[in-house]
Amino acid sequence: MKVELNVNDRMVEIDVEPRKTLLDALRDDLRLTGTHTGCEHGVCGACTVLVDGAPVRACLMLAVQSDGHEITTIEGLAPAPGELSVLQDAFCETHGMQCGYCTPGMILTAHALLQKNVTPSREEIVDAISGNICRCTGYGQIVEAIEFAAERLARANEPRAAAAE
Ligand code: FES
Ligand code: FES
Repeated sequence: MKVELNVNDRMVEIDVEPRKTLLDALRDDLRLTGTHTGCEHGVCGACTVLVDGAPVRACLMLAVQSDGHEITTIEGLAPAPGELSVLQDAFCETHGMQCGYCTPGMILTAHALLQKNVTPSREEIVDAISGNICRCTGYGQIVEAIEFAAERLARANEPRAAAAE
């Protein structure tokens, strides 16, 4: 079946079997391998992408269901090739990753949180990422990274005069 979708601000058309997941279509057909394959049954969150801005497990969605929707993968968050978003940079600075397997899903989940809540509390951050499993970090540095990014984004949005006070 032909599926037309917007991936990272680019319209693409793919030809997929009806049973193919969005996860496999992203990785195999579009070569967007930053979306990781983990449990493949909706538990770990490694495959998280944004569908129309909301975090979705790509292993639980069929590619045909994404027809006409906007998909954002980790490759779509960087402002330019070779650059990192504020959130990605915060993960690096706070050591919010070790093996990195959960990291794309964590960052996309956190990105969606910060899009709708620019000043999340620690509890809100913990709640937002509660569906994403990390086997390495113990979560402390991941929460710290998201707090750090939220602070930086808030400072960047302050009017110049207020920031100079
Ligand atoms: S691979 Fe999709 S939730 Fe684990
Ligand atoms: S950094 Fe290894 S699974 Fe999270």
